[in-house]
This record gives sequence, structure tokens and C-alpha cells, in this order.
Amino acid sequence: MGVIQFKNVGKVFGPKESGFVALKDINLEIADKEFVAIVGPSGCGKTTCLRLVAGFDNPTDGAVMVDGTPIKRPGPNRAVVFQQFALFPWKSVYDNIDIGLRNLNVPKAERQSRIAAILNLMNLEPYAEHFPHQLSGGMQQRVAIARAYVLDPDVLLMDEPFGALDAQTRVVMQEELVRLARKNPRTVLFITHAVEEAVYLADRVVIMTRAPGRIKEVLDIASIRKAEDWDSHEKIEDVMDLESFVHLRTQIWRSLREEKADQHA
Ligand SMILES: Nc1ncnc2c1ncn2[C@@H]1O[C@H](COP(=O)(O)OP(=O)(O)OP(=O)(O)O)[C@@H](O)[C@H]1O
Ligand SMILES: [Mg+2]
Repeated sequence: MGVIQFKNVGKVFGPKESGFVALKDINLEIADKEFVAIVGPSGCGKTTCLRLVAGFDNPTDGAVMVDGTPIKRPGPNRAVVFQQFALFPWKSVYDNIDIGLRNLNVPKAERQSRIAAILNLMNLEPYAEHFPHQLSGGMQQRVAIARAYVLDPDVLLMDEPFGALDAQTRVVMQEELVRLARKNPRTVLFITHAVEEAVYLADRVVIMTRAPGRIKEVLDIASIRKAEDWDSHEKIEDVMDLESFVHLRTQIWRSLREEKADQHA
């Protein structure tokens, strides 16, 4: 399983009464194997939401739960992929992917077979003995995603994972993530600034308000993807050309622009 629930979640940094209110009244349920993207203005609390699910931080109000259990700390049922690939530079690709499995005390033979499978799935086999500095940014991020996936977590948390990549590499990674997510579905919470990326990847897109971050709108993309048969198009640019896609993208842009405009009202 991997059901994520935010129940009346608030987060204040600093003293509860006088501190900075980063999140207010967040209520959201993400179903098992659902892919949800969060978009919102810079500083609206996206990373804060993700950190609460990861267990790096605790809410001031309400509760964040996975499969009905309030999250207190990081755990093996959740894996995180950051914008900056966060690989260990002195370890090979293989050893970088192996670290989490070692931490979980997975026996060696099983580690080897799981790593072999993920290297194969992500076309990383030729690079197993390379070090991060020998890889392009896209390759490094592929390793970071492999490192999260190999743990077989119920929940994958991704904070602008493609934010540091050039536009073309980004498209390749988006297509790969879709491929991976289809073969190996997981509950995914994905944060991005790129509206197209959110619409292309997600089953639902959550739009947040500027700080104090609240949920402004939740858009159901999956039913439109299905009704308009987006999956019959192989290439991302063909999907992005569809009228239904353009319509959703514009709707989200308008909503985000309102948030920015409010700031100067
Ligand atoms: N540890 C902290 N102490 C104090 N304030 C914090 C802390 N972490 C985050 N904040 C503040 O909370 C707000 C939300 O931060 P957060 O990082 O969640 O935003 P974000 O939506 O991820 O922004 P971006 O799109 O720029 O990454 C920001 O105003 C930030 O300055
Ligand atoms: Mg952030």
C-alpha cells in the first residue's frame, strides 16, 4: 500500500503563535499508486509538504499519515529524490544504488539481483562502475531515481527532480519516468515548477496558493488523459499539442498567475 493523507495540516516555523505560517489547513488524500503533482508559487510550501511526508519534519497542526499511520520520522516505505542529485561522489553508480539496500540489511545476493534489475530497467548497465563526475546531469538523476526505486518503496517523493536538467534531457527523463511508473507503479508525490511536466506526468495536479500555503485547486488529469486517449501518442510533444492538454495547461497557468498577482495587490 501507499496511501498518503494530509489531515488539517498546518506548519509554522518558529514560535507557534508568532512564527511564519508556511502551511494552513492542508487536506489531501493520495490513493495507492496515484501520481500527484504539486505546483505553486515559490515559497508556498511545496517542499515543506514533501518533507512532512518524508518524515524530515513534523506538522504543527493536524497529521500526515501513510497507510493510516502518522509519520514521525523517515522510514523504508518512503524514498526521496531531490533536485540536486545528491549522489556520493566517491562511490560508483553501483555502490550509490547499493547504499540504501545495505542500510536495510538486505542480503548480498538479493541486493545484487535487485540492482541488476534496476540498472537494466533504467539503461544504466554500461555505467555501473562509473563515478558521478563521469556522468551527465541526466545520467546522474537517472541514478538518483534508480537508487530510490531499488528500495521498492510504497511512496516516492520527488522534489523538482528534473529542475537542474537542460530542456532536452528533461523531456527524455519525463518520458522515462512515465515508462518506469507504468511498469512499476508507486504512489508518487512530485513537485515541479513546470506546468507541462505536471500535466504530462500526473493523475492529479494540486495547485497551491502563495504563503501561507493552502490548496487552491485540484485538477483531475487522469480522466481527461483517458477520455482523450493521450497514451496513444508516444512522444511528449504530440501529447502537449493536444487541445485537451493545452486547455489544462492554460487553466493552471491562469490559476498560478492569480496567485502572483495577489502578491502585489
Ligand atoms: N526551516 C525553516 N525555517 C523557517 N522558515 C522556513 C523553513 N523551511 C521553509 N521555510 C519557509 O517556509 C516557506 C515555504 O518553504 P518551501 O521550501 O516549502 O517552499 P517551496 O514551495 O518549496 O518553494 P520553492 O518553489 O522556491 O522551492 C518559505 O517561505 C520558506 O522560507
Ligand atoms: Mg521547494
